[in-house]
Amino acid sequence: MDAAAIAHKQEICAEILATVASWIGPPARHAELIDQIGPLDTIIHFDGDAALGFIALAAGVEDHVEITLIAVRRARHGEGIGRRLIHDAAAFARTHDYPALAVSWVTDDPQGRAHRAPRHFFTRLGFRPPLTAARGPLLLRPVRRQWLSA
Ligand SMILES: CC(C)(COP(=O)(O)OP(=O)(O)OC[C@H]1O[C@@H](n2cnc3c(N)ncnc32)[C@H](O)[C@@H]1OP(=O)(O)O)[C@@H](O)C(=O)NCCC(=O)NCCS
Repeated sequence: MDAAAIAHKQEICAEILATVASWIGPPARHAELIDQIGPLDTIIHFDGDAALGFIALAAGVEDHVEITLIAVRRARHGEGIGRRLIHDAAAFARTHDYPALAVSWVTDDPQGRAHRAPRHFFTRLGFRPPLTAARGPLLLRPVRRQWLSA
């Protein structure tokens, strides 16, 4: 992906992120997240020209595909867009032969106040704590691997 395409992707994601600002934290955190997204595989869902939501993925983090960030335009919450993004991320993991999707960033809120909504979202979509958690809040969702014989 060339620099202009990356910048365009970041612009689209930043605009969506701005609609869920209160979930994400201070503006500096937004900028940091958008920077991180730059080199990552990112799936964006559109309705015509309108971007509805995105999921940014880091492959190969501890042998799984890590969801760095998922966000859906505030006005379109509850329509199943987040679920479809997770579905596409699972397909991405299967295609690249990773056994699981993982999410370790759930909220920055030290009081955990904002914790429940995303955790509920991920739990609804099949994410569970791993048997041994080496760090922070980490949830895993196995993806079915298709083994094809030659
Ligand atoms: C989390 C988020 C991506 C969910 O997107 P969405 O498109 O509204 O989610 P969906 O409509 O696909 O919902 C999927 C399931 O999760 C549940 N869910 C979604 N948001 C929820 C919330 N805030 N509280 C409780 N449950 C929620 C839905 O009820 C649904 O379950 P159901 O099928 O049993 O009804 C969206 O709320 C968002 O952008 N939040 C801000 C950013 C964020 O916190 N990202 C997570 C950290 S990386």
